Amino acid sequence: MKGLKGKRVLITGASSGIGAGMARVLAREGCRLVLHVNANQEGIEKTLKEVTALGTDAAVLSCDFRQPETLPTFFEQAWQVFDGLDGLVNNAGVVSKTTALKDADGIQFMETMAVNLHAPYLLSTAFAQACISAKQAGAIVNNSSIHAQATCEWFSAYAASKAGLDAMSKVQAVEWGQHGIRVNVLAPGVVPVERTEQILSNPKMAQKWHDKIPVGRYGTTEEMGEATAYLLSDATAWMTGSVLTLDGGLIARGNYPSR
Ligand SMILES: NC(=O)c1ccc[n+]([C@@H]2O[C@H](COP(=O)([O-])OP(=O)(O)OC[C@H]3O[C@@H](n4cnc5c(N)ncnc54)[C@H](OP(=O)(O)O)[C@@H]3O)[C@@H](O)[C@H]2O)c1
Repeated sequence: MKGLKGKRVLITGASSGIGAGMARVLAREGCRLVLHVNANQEGIEKTLKEVTALGTDAAVLSCDFRQPETLPTFFEQAWQVFDGLDGLVNNAGVVSKTTALKDADGIQFMETMAVNLHAPYLLSTAFAQACISAKQAGAIVNNSSIHAQATCEWFSAYAASKAGLDAMSKVQAVEWGQHGIRVNVLAPGVVPVERTEQILSNPKMAQKWHDKIPVGRYGTTEEMGEATAYLLSDATAWMTGSVLTLDGGLIARGNYPSR
């Protein structure tokens, strides 16, 4: 992909699922990677092994995004690994699933906001400040969700965090365009990952989803990686403040009765 070779990219949540897929694709594109992990040490070792086998330079850094006071140091360390960063992928997220009535004290709501929205705010801002000081361009990809656009029961915290991420990305794109910093959003539909493997591979469940998704299948973590590579690359040099939805057509289709 145009202009990606040698780019230094921090990917959060690279220990599993979509983040690990992004890491593999960016490694294939010749990016040097700082891989973030929270708790899944086994997962991050697997990702590290995969990307180094592809011949890329990579380092691992840990941080729990529920502790915002640790984020400035985490970012500084990430910036120092390759003496700067060209790209930031805010991928880490918790898919919290509860009803508002069951989470009436808002504890799960606040944790979801901390990881899915506050951490990307702090990291993106630190990234922009560092790029501006270094007089260099930068690209940010925020991994949101179709739940920011159309959602269902159980997701008030999750959908709110992702809708906030979409809105924040647009504002940051407007504020930082003058400095050569682009901010775009990836909005995945249903992508099976380790976390969802058991439920989504159930044939009845798979059939239900496949019937609803116009292209008739789930997405893959590699496809999310390809889209991320595109958004980080020079092919999208004039694209900022945009949401790229990859969902096999799921939300384009309204909830109308079929004829
Ligand atoms: N899979 C889908 O269908 C889908 C659809 C739309 C959007 N997404 C988005 O894609 C992103 C990745 O999710 P995934 O589906 O690939 O699931 P996943 O495999 O569970 O990945 C979630 C990642 O977030 C990290 N994370 C969780 N809690 C954290 C915390 N407190 N501090 C820092 N990092 C934390 C995890 O790190 P550890 O494992 O190391 O704790 C993990 O790497 C999320 O933002 C999610 O909202 C997924």
